[in-house]
Amino acid sequence: MNLWSPQSWRSKPVLQQPSYADRDSLLQVEAELKGMPPLVFAAETRSLHNSLADVAQGRAFLLQGGDCAESFADFSATSIRDTFKVLLQMAIVLTYAGRKPVVKVGRLAGQFAKPRSDDMEIRDGIQLPSYRGDIVNGTEFDAIARAADPQRLLRAYHQSTSTLNLVRAFASGGLADLHAVNQWNLSYLESNPLRDKYQNIANTIQDALAFMEVCGINSANTPTLRETTLYTSHEALLLNYEEALTRQDHLTGKWYDCSAHMLWIGERTRQLDGAHIEFFKGLHNPIGVKIGPTMTADELIGLVDALNPENIPGRLTLISRMGADKIEQVLPALARRVQAEGRSVVWSCDPMHGNTVKAAGGYKTRSFDRILLEIKRFFAILREAGAHPGGIHLEMTGQHVTECTGGAYAISEADLAKCYQSQCDPRLNADQVLELAFCVADFLREA
Ligand code: PEP
Ligand code: CO
Repeated sequence: MNLWSPQSWRSKPVLQQPSYADRDSLLQVEAELKGMPPLVFAAETRSLHNSLADVAQGRAFLLQGGDCAESFADFSATSIRDTFKVLLQMAIVLTYAGRKPVVKVGRLAGQFAKPRSDDMEIRDGIQLPSYRGDIVNGTEFDAIARAADPQRLLRAYHQSTSTLNLVRAFASGGLADLHAVNQWNLSYLESNPLRDKYQNIANTIQDALAFMEVCGINSANTPTLRETTLYTSHEALLLNYEEALTRQDHLTGKWYDCSAHMLWIGERTRQLDGAHIEFFKGLHNPIGVKIGPTMTADELIGLVDALNPENIPGRLTLISRMGADKIEQVLPALARRVQAEGRSVVWSCDPMHGNTVKAAGGYKTRSFDRILLEIKRFFAILREAGAHPGGIHLEMTGQHVTECTGGAYAISEADLAKCYQSQCDPRLNADQVLELAFCVADFLREA
């Protein structure tokens, strides 16, 4: 640990980094990013850390979600607002059912870079670098678009700052006031089959608020009624970008990656001797790591030792992404071992990345039922192991897209073409995530 520095990862083997033709321009951009203000403040990440410690101990629930990848083209106030609203709605349903605070963490304001299985993509005999997210290159299949462009790092930084600016305004500027919840969900849920179910919860909350008002507790004198906190997170894939935004906190002298409150390491970059693990070792943000179906109990303990050697509750979130079938073969032994060794972690379920299939027409999709089944099994397995099913991690949007099949509207494979907007993985749409929240609420209530 003594030898750790924000750039010590550079001496380790590193995967999934783009290759830039113009090194000088890259160095210039990295220097410019180092001079930019941080996006988040260290004390905020400590608040999230504390909330995640509550999750680790079963006193709160983690809801993490947002785009697979943010894009430059889809950047608008509307899409940020809709994601914010749907996350809040889900949180209300989950809080109400679980009688526990819900810690809300967006996959936003920095979730741009994508790991790829293949460095190159071949179409009609032409080979070009794979698309790695808007922070690296463009989706169009031509040599210019697919070349890694350092200027995109700056554009992603600036888009992240304005996204976060709006999120902060929504969170504290009145949109999240519990008194307003009824108003903003009405038009939004217009044709949702779950509208009445949601309305019942909203009405109950209104009654409680009216009672509290009589007792003298209101939005004016009680900020928690009119404000919320939506933390930010993304996969820390591009280590030069993360390094540039890593700053030493003046209050504590500790290092924080100030590109987001929480960062995670993806399934493809979690090698114990690799650069990503090295970089994360020295950060004091709460961190996550994805764990897929090839994980063994020994390897997992090695990972936990590397990332949370002092066993601090809330520091480490294990994000299980097994697939609905494999989860039953793999997760029980992992959960039992972590429990037996007394390691404090947050267990979260990503039911998306192990359930991706190719539909007719070439669209990548996921079925609502498989997603729900993986979450259901996740809850059962962790409870069986004596651990807390701490949270869910979703790829979702507040928009009415058709990217995942199933749900109350029974989106079929033939419907996917109607409104498929994702440049990467298929997201649950606004109706599907709300429905999912009601199902997860039932699992929480079973506790
Ligand atoms: C992701 O979360 O978008 C992702 C690529 O996940 P994983 O690392 O689990 O494959
Ligand atoms: Co994804």
